[in-house]
Amino acid sequence: MEKLLIKGGNNLSGKIKCSGAKNAALPMIAATILSDEKIILKNLPYLQDITTIFELLGSMGAEILLDENMNFTISSSNLKDIEARYELVKTMRASILVLGPLLAKYGKAKIALPGGCAIGTRPVNFHLDALKQLGAEINLKNGYIEASAKKLQGNKIKFDGVTVTGTENLMMAATLAEGRTILTNVAKEPEIIDLAEMLNSMGAKISGAGSDEIIIDGVESLHRTEYVIPADRIEAGTYLAAAAVTNGNITVEGINPKRLMKVIYKLNDAGAQISHDENSISISMKKDRPRPVDVTTAPFPEFPTDMQAQFSVINAISNGTSNIYETVFENRFMHILELNRMGCDITVQGNHAVINGVPSLYGAEVMATDLRASASLILAGLCAKGETIVDRIYHIDRGYERIEEKLNYLGADITRLPS
Ligand code: EPU
Repeated sequence: MEKLLIKGGNNLSGKIKCSGAKNAALPMIAATILSDEKIILKNLPYLQDITTIFELLGSMGAEILLDENMNFTISSSNLKDIEARYELVKTMRASILVLGPLLAKYGKAKIALPGGCAIGTRPVNFHLDALKQLGAEINLKNGYIEASAKKLQGNKIKFDGVTVTGTENLMMAATLAEGRTILTNVAKEPEIIDLAEMLNSMGAKISGAGSDEIIIDGVESLHRTEYVIPADRIEAGTYLAAAAVTNGNITVEGINPKRLMKVIYKLNDAGAQISHDENSISISMKKDRPRPVDVTTAPFPEFPTDMQAQFSVINAISNGTSNIYETVFENRFMHILELNRMGCDITVQGNHAVINGVPSLYGAEVMATDLRASASLILAGLCAKGETIVDRIYHIDRGYERIEEKLNYLGADITRLPS
């Protein structure tokens, strides 16, 4: 298994460009199932999760072509097989995103039920309950979701809880349903707006994405489109946090700061100077140690759970005590035990972490448990004294494009050790 060797202590400086957003790209690739025409996606990030969803579509019979400009042309018409097998779903829960499109387009779908994962139980009951309200018949059998519908029927649906991929699944399914669907208690993440824009560019009639209520008027079919995947706000936030823990001075280009306002405010509170224009964010951390900042995660526009682990590291080296409350996932503190092995002083009780800042961390051998946990271990390694080895980095390759190359470009010293 490959590992990352990080020699800590370098200040980061310079400019880097944000890659395309994984969590925007995944539903967009699933959305290609809705059309019989070719869909061109540009600026897709080179990530394991993207490979996995392509593998899934490929296994169903989709054609995926990559041109010399790194644009993907996806043709998901006439899929032969409408099954997402467990081998793929177990490696990526977002495979559930093909459920809504398959039901809407083919009237049936068989998707392996995702199991629990490292950050929580993560059931899909909100997706299934909502799809039933569009008229789908859903049975759980032998570890699979078996869904069918003659023709989905628009309906007024209030989600039982806010879910990002659930909102996306329903939005996609409702584009080809008969009549009007009104979704409430929806997720408002920027990726929801991106997906609605892409679907509308294919001829869908969706309004209200990004607000509390999404209205979808069903259409007969969706046509070809070309769409550019927007920048990854969590990748951008992770690099800003890396600068905050290394007394760095960096600019992340290609990112709209409106997608990251809560993170920017918290970085400011931690003592960083932030400036931004419409398409880039700069950070300069002159203070010796960050100020402690309390953080409570919650759905957008509140502080993103996907930035919680990175802020654990900022707080870990701060000059005081802070509290982090994780309200989105019930088990997203797996990185804390590993961080404590690097000298952090963090205690966790339920969904609450109390972090006593320490003057410095020291390198150690640590193990990544999930994507954002891996990012936090790399950040800790960047500011620790000595050498850190991060094991199980396949987690990081799922969601960060060329992370060590980008950080080394900013002055870090990271080597990928072969397995
Ligand atoms: N939930 C249910 N039932 C459901 C759906 C969700 O109880 O049917 C619960 C979950 O267990 C969780 C909460 O609701 O406690 C929110 O989960 P949500 O469904 O919003 O998460 P998701 O759609 O599975 C997406 C991102 C995650 C990100 C979360 C929250 C994608 C592909 N994944 O997951 O990204 O953390 O929203 O913002 O968009 C990551 O990139 O590292 C990552 C985990």
